Amino acid sequence: MTQQTGLEALSSESRRFEPPADLAAKANVSADAYEQAAADRLAFWAEQAGRLEWATPWTEIVDWQPPYAKWFVGGTLNVAVNCLDRHVAAGNGERVALHWVGEPDGDTRDLTYAELLRQVSMTANALTELGVQAGDRVCIYLPMVPEAVISMLACARIGAAHSVVFGGFSAQALVDRITDAGAKVVITADGGYRRGSASALKPAVDEALERCPDVTAVLVVKRTRQDVAWAEGRDHWWADLVDRQPESHSAQAFDAEQPLFLLYTSGTTGKPKGILHTSGGYLTQCAWTHWAVFDLKPESDVYWCTADVGWVTGHSYLVYGPLANGVTQVMYEGTPDAGGRDRWWSIVEQYKVSILYTAPTAIRTFMKWGEDLPGGRDLSSLRILGSVGEPINPEAWMWYRRVIGGDRCPVVDTWWQTETGAMMVSPLPGVTSCKPGSAMGPLPGISVDVVDGEGRSVGETGGGFLTLDEPWPAMLRGIWNDDSRYRDTYWSRFPGRYFAGDGAKWDDEHVLWLLGRVDDVMNISGHRISTTEVESALVSHPKVAEAAVVGASDETTGQAIVAFVTVKGTVDDLESGGDEFAQELRAHVAKEIGPIAKPRQIVISPELPKTRSGKIMRRLLVDIAERRELGDVTTLADPAVVQAIDDTMGAAAAKG
Ligand code: PRX
Repeated sequence: MTQQTGLEALSSESRRFEPPADLAAKANVSADAYEQAAADRLAFWAEQAGRLEWATPWTEIVDWQPPYAKWFVGGTLNVAVNCLDRHVAAGNGERVALHWVGEPDGDTRDLTYAELLRQVSMTANALTELGVQAGDRVCIYLPMVPEAVISMLACARIGAAHSVVFGGFSAQALVDRITDAGAKVVITADGGYRRGSASALKPAVDEALERCPDVTAVLVVKRTRQDVAWAEGRDHWWADLVDRQPESHSAQAFDAEQPLFLLYTSGTTGKPKGILHTSGGYLTQCAWTHWAVFDLKPESDVYWCTADVGWVTGHSYLVYGPLANGVTQVMYEGTPDAGGRDRWWSIVEQYKVSILYTAPTAIRTFMKWGEDLPGGRDLSSLRILGSVGEPINPEAWMWYRRVIGGDRCPVVDTWWQTETGAMMVSPLPGVTSCKPGSAMGPLPGISVDVVDGEGRSVGETGGGFLTLDEPWPAMLRGIWNDDSRYRDTYWSRFPGRYFAGDGAKWDDEHVLWLLGRVDDVMNISGHRISTTEVESALVSHPKVAEAAVVGASDETTGQAIVAFVTVKGTVDDLESGGDEFAQELRAHVAKEIGPIAKPRQIVISPELPKTRSGKIMRRLLVDIAERRELGDVTTLADPAVVQAIDDTMGAAAAKG
């Protein structure tokens, strides 16, 4: 089982933090919600769906034909209308929707709900002019600029599904995603700002589109003003096409099950999966969890989710949840250290952020940078802190609460996945007394069960595999173009249950601890990358014979990618030395997948450790990568191989 070092031991942490009394007294959700949902789970979700604006009411709450669910059957709505028009109609058009903060200092834009509606309407008209119709797919490859949000909502408005590809993915990754989705339009930018300089995006699109003949149009945002190649007839500047469109757009209501987006995520094979989400159920759970888990007061809170729109957290808790709830939020383009390592805290101070939602990796980085930086800023506006993406170790949880939250803000650790669409396991800040490092338990309306290897429930205490044994509104509706993979990946290991791929344990007080992935998916800084995906990238290099990739514990990023590689011929045959070749391979992986998948370390070894039946022994490689005492090697075909690899690692470590 892949898990964070020490987490098991620390999960015996028994200290509790009670909800602050003033917060509990005015909380949006009380303990009654658990009882209400337990008494009638479907009625509970129907009540939450009622918080949205529907054009036609549903006739059935859920149609569950395992493993296929339809929620709010017969209901129709428009997702963008729920995120924009209804707030403007309610008199909140002048409320700021986005305080956008660019990476270069002073580069900011504020967009009210009315202004966002105007821009989304114009973009919806522009997409229609480009021939996009309801049911089509649009690929979005943008930096963290308001146009990313505008594009997503414009697609939703016309019933087209977006497929957002994180800007850190390569041209090859774009080809795979555009082709699988069958996207006909791509929205991109000349580039974006990252780590203090302008980086390019459009060249990757240009390269990708040489292999995607079905893409007919590219809409390009001018962000950095760098020179770009231009395909006449295919490419359109955003400012030329969008700005001349009518400012209003009359939105049609779509079926509750209208596809809203595809989001590609790593599985245990090399090919990323297009996770399909639809409209009514997804928006219901995003909006309700965002309102309940952050105890959101839309009229007074300033909310900041630091995730990129390229990941599911950006979809559900930067775009759909917050905008459906009509809150004011901050959206920041850059890295935490752009313009100084206290950039985030200066943003919190300036915009009086009251709710912050981020990942443990970021928290651990700030821990390394020291308390003085946040200490030098006024963070008194904060009232709730959220964590997501990977297990948060109790130390980081405590630091977050004490240093960032001034010992007064509850920390909510939220467990969920691209596939679940919205939060599933989390405390409620006005209700739950929290244990540092634990996501505590399922939210009202959500049913989880920890099971052993045979699929038997472990009951109230004990460890095993996390499963979901009842459907939930925001659940994925399938894998695009691959129904058998949908059934195999999630529903076959434990029949009748959704298998999340995570290990979990109930402690003695029936509190839930998430223990990390139990499959070949690594979690690097909260980003999911499969070992097979990186292995495929490595063996696509002409000189690589075999590759085995593992996730090794890393103090900051949770896990780090370590690759073991054998070459064709011998190491001595390499024109460049071993070190140089390792660098070449890292660059090769960045080209094939993207810089986020670059291994931290590549070990060129004479052979890989295999069992007598020829299976690579990953468990051993993890031990080697973590420089741990090696376990039993008796099943190895050749135990000397391990010694040889271990020596290579030792030599590399000695070199520093
Ligand atoms: O292993 C779990 C981990 O992240 C995986 C889902 O990754 P992704 O689909 O990219 O979505 C990330 C953002 C929701 C899960 O299978 N994970 C996510 N949140 C937590 C977590 N592990 C422990 N605690 C969490 N709070």
